[in-house]
Amino acid sequence: MLPKFFGRRKGRVIHKAKSTLLARFLPKIKIGENTVFDKEKMFGFPVQKIYLEIGFGDGEHLAGMSLKNPDIGFIGIEVFQNGVANLLKLLTGVADGNNVPENISIQPERTDNVRVYDDDARLLFSKIPAGFVDKVFLLFPDPWPKKRHSARRFVNPENLKELARIIRHGGILQIATDHKIYKAWTMRTMHGAPDFRWTAKTSADWRCPPADWVETKYQRKALREGRKPVFFEYERV
Ligand SMILES: C[S@@+](CC[C@H](N)C(=O)[O-])C[C@H]1O[C@@H](n2cnc3c(N)ncnc32)[C@H](O)[C@@H]1O
Repeated sequence: MLPKFFGRRKGRVIHKAKSTLLARFLPKIKIGENTVFDKEKMFGFPVQKIYLEIGFGDGEHLAGMSLKNPDIGFIGIEVFQNGVANLLKLLTGVADGNNVPENISIQPERTDNVRVYDDDARLLFSKIPAGFVDKVFLLFPDPWPKKRHSARRFVNPENLKELARIIRHGGILQIATDHKIYKAWTMRTMHGAPDFRWTAKTSADWRCPPADWVETKYQRKALREGRKPVFFEYERV
């Protein structure tokens, strides 16, 4: 059985623009029961590649990467409603709850290449066909630093088994963290994962973000507070 979800799903306040976006724009790009995982049909146009971001938080990385890569289809997963709403704000440019256009749509400079699953990522895995995804981003996952909470960490053998199934051979799993315990945990757990190979050749390969990186909220927070993030890249072998 799926372990219980331990994070937050709702914040205290959700502003008018955001609740309007959740009610009126999310359904247009939401992954639901009837979504067909087909690269020809899932997005506004056929795509060749799929990138998946798990726990996208406020959505800066997802919004930034989907703008930089208009030909790639992006699937974003986030359970926290305020985060989902923030992504919708970035995609549509709607910021003011009193001036919401009748027909909310994505910003003119964007293509229709983002779809969102607003629930626990583990519930979606079984719906995604094997080898469907080219790249998965898991950026600054909740560290759950206490030893007795270690089973809650997203990097774990069960989730890695699912990720190995949905990532195509030669595809990439990108994990970033700024937490000392999670860093050691990730290295150890991934070392024991037979389906993945760490691609780093020098320490610069994991101490610096990849060239096309878009900063996330938690990355900025870490830097502000003096913690140095690391960026692990694993190839699905
Ligand atoms: C520490 S935050 C990092 C957010 C973002 N990636 C960043 O770097 O700013 C972790 C996020 O993962 C989400 N999350 C945790 N477990 C999840 C799950 N099983 N499915 C979907 N989202 C999840 C949380 O709601 C939270 O927003």
